[in-house]
Amino acid sequence: MPKTFQVHYQVEENSEAMSLTAVDWIASSVEFAVRARGTARIAISGGNTPKRTFELLADPDHAFRKRIDWSRLLVFWVDERCVPPDSADSNYHLAKETFLSKVPLPAENVVRIEGELDPEEAAARYESALRDRFRLEGAELPRFDLILLGLGDNGHTASLFPHSSALHEVMRLAVATQVEAKNPWRVTLTWPVINHADKIFFLIQDTSKADVLKEVLLGPYRPELLPAQLIRPESGEMTLLLDRAAAAKLPPPGPDGMGLLGVSR
Ligand code: 6PG
Repeated sequence: MPKTFQVHYQVEENSEAMSLTAVDWIASSVEFAVRARGTARIAISGGNTPKRTFELLADPDHAFRKRIDWSRLLVFWVDERCVPPDSADSNYHLAKETFLSKVPLPAENVVRIEGELDPEEAAARYESALRDRFRLEGAELPRFDLILLGLGDNGHTASLFPHSSALHEVMRLAVATQVEAKNPWRVTLTWPVINHADKIFFLIQDTSKADVLKEVLLGPYRPELLPAQLIRPESGEMTLLLDRAAAAKLPPPGPDGMGLLGVSR
């Protein structure tokens, strides 16, 4: 039976406006989870798009930093490139430079993927860290309060790349995968884990994403070619934050910048 879900999208004028909205949404999700469950567990992506959002999280001139109870936040990663943690290509390094090193987040609240290890070992160790931190039993999946994703211009999200073996992995929580990109070895959360999250936010900017975004949302279901189509949230909805350039091929949003699509797959 096809799964039907709603895609809410918000279109911002430019990348700075998009980052300000993103950081507001992250802070609200963390506040909500802390109020509801005592802690907030979020998984973040790498790439260029979230850089400014991460900077704003730590910026002393903005209120976001103070809205977050850092002692109750746990930070995980959606994926990691298999490089050392001090490499400029490391997703952990990006987060460390932009916000982790600037906010009062206890070191034990940072659960990184050890990209310096053999990829299979890094995936196995990350999976056991997830089992431990979420106190999982048997085949249970972790339920992240928030997963932040990006979209590649080839339709990948996380490190779920077109035609890669990771697309077929449904039992593991995290897998090693070889992809056609710089830093070809990656470790990624599997798509069933992503779909199980409480909230899924995509941050997408730039003209180079406009066509692929339209194909992912409105084109035929071809997940081997467009792995971002594997993201079908169990909660029944997901949210995209877009700049005007990335949103150019979607139905125009309303005057408030909000759009809504029903997707069935
Ligand atoms: C990574 C990512 C990846 C990213 C997209 C979009 O490690 O590369 O987690 O999935 O989100 O490639 O990247 P940009 O934001 O750079 O376009």
